[in-house]
This record gives sequence, structure tokens and C-alpha cells, in this order.
Amino acid sequence: MNDCIWLNGEIIPASEARLSVEDRGFQFADGVYEVLRLYNGQPFAQRAHLARLEQSARGIQLGLPISTVLLANEIGKLTVASGVRDGMIYLQLTRGQAPRNHVFPADAQQTLLFYARPLPPIPAPGNGPGARLLAVKDERWHRCWIKAIALLPNVLAKNEAVAAGADEAVFVDSGVVSECAASNLFAVIDGRLVTHPVGSRVLPGITRAVLLECAKSLDMAVEERALGEKETVGADELFITSTTREVSWVGTWNEQPVGSGKCGPITQALHEALRERVAMETDAITTPDSFHTPRGSGHLHTSF
Ligand code: PDD
Repeated sequence: MNDCIWLNGEIIPASEARLSVEDRGFQFADGVYEVLRLYNGQPFAQRAHLARLEQSARGIQLGLPISTVLLANEIGKLTVASGVRDGMIYLQLTRGQAPRNHVFPADAQQTLLFYARPLPPIPAPGNGPGARLLAVKDERWHRCWIKAIALLPNVLAKNEAVAAGADEAVFVDSGVVSECAASNLFAVIDGRLVTHPVGSRVLPGITRAVLLECAKSLDMAVEERALGEKETVGADELFITSTTREVSWVGTWNEQPVGSGKCGPITQALHEALRERVAMETDAITTPDSFHTPRGSGHLHTSF
């Protein structure tokens, strides 16, 4: 892997990247971000990720410095330069450098950067240990549809979960379960797939959207509605989704077993459908390591 970064139009060694201490991303968390998945050297669902980036930027009154078409092209160049085949692209857009002032600067140039990082293979559908969730009070703002770089509530929640021996924090507010610190949550209740609607409380996850399409094509009954904590804990199956972890079945909620204690059939079928979509879009079937993880050898990626 070549440790390079795309910074404001140039691909340079990461060690040479320089940002001002007065970048508003650094001082105010005044920016948005994206995480895209690379399979076999190709981004998955790139169009959806870049559309969400534009939407997040609009949500904080920020424009993109280049069009999404050009951006997709530049992501391709950076991917090749990085040598990363299976991994992720982290992209960040901030309002740029300006003398510190809460008021938006009149003439700052946005800071746009992205780089690639390899990721270990994800366990094949149904494999790996179940995720352990810890319920945490949702103390985030009410614009969760914006993928904002201001992640302190998520960071604190995730660390609380890890300190308690769990893998992921699940947000609960007044008995309503919304999503997790870095993933969306789905429940299977009476044969129906249920997930909280996106909006003020839930990020419009790209993996979530792809899985909802998969569910429809598999003729599964889907409900997008608020989930009560009691029905969620008692669900037949629970799983979480994100770009970096695809689909993880949930084994425990506050240390109590969920469902059968194994990956459920609906979770497994949806994860397999997602893998098919990935293979169709990225030819990733040609990278055996990510797709033929031997049973039981999978592990949870607790760090993302
Ligand atoms: N997080 N909800 C939250 C709060 C998230 O941070 C994420 C992703 C998701 C899942 O979205 P997607 O399927 O588009 O990855 C839901 C990324 C991976 C991160 O912050 O690293």
C-alpha cells in the first residue's frame, strides 16, 4: 500500500499533507464526511455515497468544490495510487480555513480530502460471533441525517459500550430505539423486517438502503417505523449494517441473548443478497479472501 492522500486536488504522500490549525473542521467540527467501501479495487454504491455527501453538505450550507462526477474520477485515481484493493475510502469536507469566528467566513475555500485504507475480510454471511450491543441514551442532536464530522456523542457511546465488554452502542431515547453509534439497526419481528425511518434520529445508511432493496426483491415484508425497546430486545433476529461491517447479526443486548443465539435465516439471506449486489457491481467474486472466509474464522471488527 502507498500511503497517499488526495488533498484539495493533489495526490501527495500522507506524511506531506498539511492543514491549517484554523481549519474549521479542526476548530468547530464544521464539516461532513463519507466512508465508502472498496471491493476488488472498486467502490461499492459510489453514486449513493456521493449523493449523500452532497445532501449532508447542503444540510450545513456547504457546497462541494468539485462536481460528484469529477470527484468519482478523482477517487478512482487515488484508489489506484494507494494500491488498496479491499478496504475503505475516508472522505472529509470542511468549510476550510478562516480566522476563528462562529460566523461562516465569506470567502473560505473548502477543504476536501480523502484517502484509502485496507480492511480485513468480513466474515461470510452467518459466520463470526454475534455483535454485543449496549443500550446508551441518545444524546445526539436532531439532524442525524447529516453525516457530520462532529461525532463526540457517537465516540463516547461506542467507548462506553467497549468498556462494558460490548462491540457497539445502540441509541435509545424515551423507549425508542433508533440506530447505533456507527451502524443502522434492523429487527425481524413476526416475520417482518423492521427498521427506524431515516431523518432527525437516523442516518440514511447506504447499506441500509441497499438491504431494503434486497428485502423487497426477496418479497420480504418491510416496515420503516419507530422501534420500541421491549419489542426490539424480544425480536426473533437483530442485525446491524454499515459500509465497513456489511451485516453483523446481533448476539446480545445488554448481555442478554437475542433470538436463537445464532445468525437468523432472514439476516443470513439478506447478507447473501448484499454480497450478490457487491459482486455484480464490483466483480469482487474474483477476490477469494473476502468471500470465502472459512466458517468460524471470522471476527468482529470492533474498531469500526
Ligand atoms: N458509519 N449510522 C451511523 C451513525 C453511522 O455512523 C453509520 C456509518 C451508519 C451506516 O451507514 P452506511 O451503511 O452508509 O455506512 C449508520 C461509518 C461507517 C463510520 O462512521 O465509520
